[in-house]
Amino acid sequence: MDCTVRPYLPTDETAWLRCRALAFLDTAYFDDVKRVRPAIAAPGFALVAVGPDGAVIGVIDVEVEHGAATVETVAVHPDHRSRGVGGALLEEALDRLAALGATTLDAWTRDDPDTLRWYRSNGFAEGDHYLHVYADYYTDAAEPDRAIGGRRPGLRPVKALLHAAMAEEAAMREQFARVHVCRRFVRSVKG
Ligand SMILES: CC(C)(COP(=O)(O)OP(=O)(O)OC[C@H]1O[C@@H](n2cnc3c(N)ncnc32)[C@H](O)[C@@H]1OP(=O)(O)O)[C@@H](O)C(=O)NCCC(=O)NCCS
Repeated sequence: MDCTVRPYLPTDETAWLRCRALAFLDTAYFDDVKRVRPAIAAPGFALVAVGPDGAVIGVIDVEVEHGAATVETVAVHPDHRSRGVGGALLEEALDRLAALGATTLDAWTRDDPDTLRWYRSNGFAEGDHYLHVYADYYTDAAEPDRAIGGRRPGLRPVKALLHAAMAEEAAMREQFARVHVCRRFVRSVKG
């Protein structure tokens, strides 16, 4: 792994946004594109991994509240995956969390098999699950009506993201083309 992990700097914002968008493009988060980086309040922190030429090839943002930490974003540029960049970001984040006295680190993710494998092989265990259901007029013109009961006159729903319980999974998959299982992974900071 030929990268250096350092704190995020405001001048990294464009590189951060591009890295995240490209990393998500072939995942279940492909349309979760941000144009401005959400701020992380202290004691939370943000790190970037840079290659030998200084280019940002991976990012991790971690929120910390009352000793519990959450990965807000972890993304490695697709040209640099599976070379330990994500692992290096996580390792540095865990060191910083231990120094802050945080005890747990969790993350929410959808159903990409490679990502699930990465969390599991990095000591995370799967806990809570629920569904992310997309109702999209352009996939099936009836989906928004199936998802939304009463309509406001003059407004036609075109796209909606809805949450549902796992018990609804079979019914949701029958009625909607895009359904994700959203899962919480959690590990202890000390490993
Ligand atoms: C998940 C992710 C952060 C892992 O970072 P990484 O630098 O690729 O992972 P590492 O090199 O530390 O670890 C490699 C392992 O991760 C797993 N992995 C996860 N996603 C992978 C991918 N898209 N391609 C290849 N391996 C992947 C593999 O199990 C791999 O093990 P292997 O080398 O034995 O095959 C990165 O692949 C990524 O950005 N994925 C897309 C964005 C995403 O899903 N982010 C999390 C959303 S919550």
